[in-house]
Amino acid sequence: MRRLFPVTDETVAGASGGARGRDAPDDATDRGWGLEELAEAYAYPDVHEPWLRANMVSTLDGAAQHEGHSQPISSEADMRIFGTLRGLADVVLVGAETVRQEGYRPARAREAFAALREAAGQGPAPAIAVVSASLDLDFALPLFTSPLVPTLLLTGAAAAPDRIAAAEKAGAQVVIAGDGMGVDPARAVRALGDLGLRRLLTEGGPRLLGQLVASEVLDELCLTISPMLTVGDAQRIAGGPAPAVPKRFELVSLLEEAGFLFSRYRRT
Ligand SMILES: NC(=O)c1ccc[n+]([C@@H]2O[C@H](COP(=O)([O-])OP(=O)(O)OC[C@H]3O[C@@H](n4cnc5c(N)ncnc54)[C@H](OP(=O)(O)O)[C@@H]3O)[C@@H](O)[C@H]2O)c1
Repeated sequence: MRRLFPVTDETVAGASGGARGRDAPDDATDRGWGLEELAEAYAYPDVHEPWLRANMVSTLDGAAQHEGHSQPISSEADMRIFGTLRGLADVVLVGAETVRQEGYRPARAREAFAALREAAGQGPAPAIAVVSASLDLDFALPLFTSPLVPTLLLTGAAAAPDRIAAAEKAGAQVVIAGDGMGVDPARAVRALGDLGLRRLLTEGGPRLLGQLVASEVLDELCLTISPMLTVGDAQRIAGGPAPAVPKRFELVSLLEEAGFLFSRYRRT
C-alpha cells in the first residue's frame, strides 16, 4: 500500500530515502499497512451531525459487480479497507437487494478495532441497517437472529404489518423512515442520527446509493477502482433517476496497492 495523494514533504522525503530516515515508516513507499494505520487514514471527521460515507468498488469500465457479486472485482487490500471502514462505523446502511444477493451476515467484532471503538464510545461492531420496502427478507438468518448489535430495518409507514411483526420477533429493530412503502433517504439519515448513530457507512447497492446521492445526504465516497474490465451490462455504483445537476466531489486521498486505487472523495 502506498499513498499517491496528497503528497506531502514527508511522503516525498520518505520515498527518496531522505530526511525522515530509515526507521520511520513513510506513506509513499509500497509496504504493508497495519489496520491501525488504515483506521487513521480513514478516520471520520469530528462532526456532531451524522456523516454518511459510502464504500463501493468499480471496474475500469464502471461495473459494480460481476455475475451479481462484487467479490470478483475486489482484492485483498480492498477487503482490508472494507473491514477498516466497518471497524470505524456506528452503522452500515445497505439496500435489501445487496443483503439478499451477497448473503449479508452480522458485522463481526474485530480485535484490531476494539480499543478504538471503546475510546469512541462505540459498541463492539457496527449495526447493520437494511433498507427495504417489501420486507421480503429471511428473518431466520443470523443477520436478524444473532447479531452482536440488533440489526435495524428501515422501511416506510405503509410496510406490511405482518412482515414488521416477523422482523421484530426475530430481534430486528424496525425504524419507520417514510410515509408510504418506501424510505425517504434524508429521513433515514436523520432517524439514524436520532438513535445516536453518527458515523454512517453505506455499502450500497447502486439503487440505494443513487437515492442517497440524489437527495444530497452523501458526504463522502470511498471508491475502489479495480484494474479490471468486465464489459457486460453490470450496474454502475449508483443508479436511478439523475439529479438535474451533477453532484461535485473533491479528492481527499488516494492510496494504491497491486494496481487497485483506493480513492476518498468528499462533497464540496
Ligand atoms: N460494487 C460495489 O461496491 C457494490 C456494493 C453493493 C452492492 N453491489 C452489487 O449491487 C447489486 C445489488 O444492488 P441493487 O442496486 O440492485 O440493490 P440495493 O440498492 O442493494 O437494494 C435495492 C433494494 O433496497 C430497497 N430499497 C432501496 N431504496 C429504497 C427505498 N427508498 N425505500 C425502501 N426500500 C428501498 C428495496 O428493497 P425491497 O425490494 O426489499 O423493497 C430495493 O429492492 C448486487 O449485485 C451487489 O453485488 C455492489
